[in-house]
Amino acid sequence: MSDFQLDQLKNGAPVKLEKNGKSICVVRVDNEVFAIDDTCSHSDASLSEGDVTDFKIECWLHGAEFDLRTGQALTLPANIALQTYSVDVKDNSVTVEI
Ligand code: FES
Repeated sequence: MSDFQLDQLKNGAPVKLEKNGKSICVVRVDNEVFAIDDTCSHSDASLSEGDVTDFKIECWLHGAEFDLRTGQALTLPANIALQTYSVDVKDNSVTVEI
């Protein structure tokens, strides 16, 4: 069963998904969808409340940026990468693979 319909996801608007005991931040960028751990690697903040620019998401708490494609921490104060997850997009169905 899919997690979302693609047309439910607004471009650049993060959504939090709880799946298999994990909190995941899901972001649509044009017709691609990315999934990354929702909890910032710096402290306990939810990335799905952050802002997206291109392929970057910025943590709202202290401003660290992460690459949605790789999970890499791009700016301090975070310096630990986040886990990313494969996302299957078929027609209008979006499934995060965990
Ligand atoms: S909690 Fe995300 S940058 Fe500090």
